[in-house]
Amino acid sequence: MFAITTTGKGDGKVELRQVDIPKPGPKDLLVKVVVAAQNPTDWKSSGRFEGVAIVGCDYAGVVTEVGKDVTEDVKVGDRVAGMVFGCLEMNGAFSEYAVVPSHMFFKIPESWSFEDASQLGVACYTTCQCLYQSQTLPSPENPTSTPYDILVWGGSSSVGHFVIQLAKLAGLRVIATASPKHFDSLKALGAAETFDYRDPEVAQKIRTYTNGNLKHVVDCISEGSTPQLTSDSLSAEGGTVSAILPYETVRPEVKVVLSLAYHLFGKAFGNFTPTTEMNDFANKSSKLISKLLAAGKLTPAPVKVWPNGLAGVPEGLEYMKSGKVSREKLIYRVADTPGVKA
Ligand SMILES: NC(=O)c1ccc[n+]([C@@H]2O[C@H](COP(=O)([O-])OP(=O)(O)OC[C@H]3O[C@@H](n4cnc5c(N)ncnc54)[C@H](OP(=O)(O)O)[C@@H]3O)[C@@H](O)[C@H]2O)c1
Repeated sequence: MFAITTTGKGDGKVELRQVDIPKPGPKDLLVKVVVAAQNPTDWKSSGRFEGVAIVGCDYAGVVTEVGKDVTEDVKVGDRVAGMVFGCLEMNGAFSEYAVVPSHMFFKIPESWSFEDASQLGVACYTTCQCLYQSQTLPSPENPTSTPYDILVWGGSSSVGHFVIQLAKLAGLRVIATASPKHFDSLKALGAAETFDYRDPEVAQKIRTYTNGNLKHVVDCISEGSTPQLTSDSLSAEGGTVSAILPYETVRPEVKVVLSLAYHLFGKAFGNFTPTTEMNDFANKSSKLISKLLAAGKLTPAPVKVWPNGLAGVPEGLEYMKSGKVSREKLIYRVADTPGVKA
């Protein structure tokens, strides 16, 4: 099959080549990838990884094989989407086929195209971690009857897009930061108010809007000035920030809790040792998102179809690395790849 891999030289470059189709284990699915979507981790990880690995985490496709020990309700021919551990082994989303752990996939309803569904994986699992693992915020299955405020820093990012929706469905009052050109779209998704993150007075304005009572933040950017600005937006007593890149708190009364979607696969990673709780959390998140999709409760973010399928990935990674992505998901249709048979 064709796949995008790192070169093995540790040079951060990726290339389209032919490799073996990965073999699913007894608890895995084999998925024919129809569309893959890009995340910042794809260029970051391919720059760090020294071996040869298939790149890409987010996929949408069709199940072609089900492992003999899979207990989930899934069969050959089902349309599924989700996340694989790209850039670590010879299995990834920028590929004709990917092996998917059976505790981590979403069922795609008929109303969602493969193009739209390809954006769900990393963003939705990270959203669940930020809301229900780093903090214990109400979920759409058990909404709060006494709404309180949550700040979504970076509401126009891929992760922010789903954090806004799940927080709103849970009855919270959502405040989001973004560039002003995205304010209307974020309000349509569920934000009650939006603020320009480049405004020098943004934290002060958020404190005024929340009457100095803000206790919960999801920092979907987690770098640059956001540790300071999210902290400054919180109440005098402090609060909790769900972060998705590591940083230290800048105020002792503000707790910063990091989550990494990679921890959900049930595989050892860096200092992380897999736990049953993590697998269970991933499985619960998979079911929650599948249920919301089936009920028509989620809206996709706009997608940008990159030309030439997988052959376009090196260019797409450069586009993202240069900071040009603004409320859009870059996606690759595998069938657009020169040489790939339909
Ligand atoms: N821990 C994890 O497991 C995990 C998972 C996913 C992502 N991440 C990390 O999280 C970051 C975001 O990922 P993503 O895929 O969601 O990104 P993305 O969709 O590519 O982010 C692009 C958006 O970020 C917004 N943005 C940039 N700088 C901002 C700032 N200072 N304040 C507010 N918004 C800002 C831009 O907003 P405007 O267009 O409105 O200007 C743009 O729309 C990346 O560093 C990624 O590596 C970590």
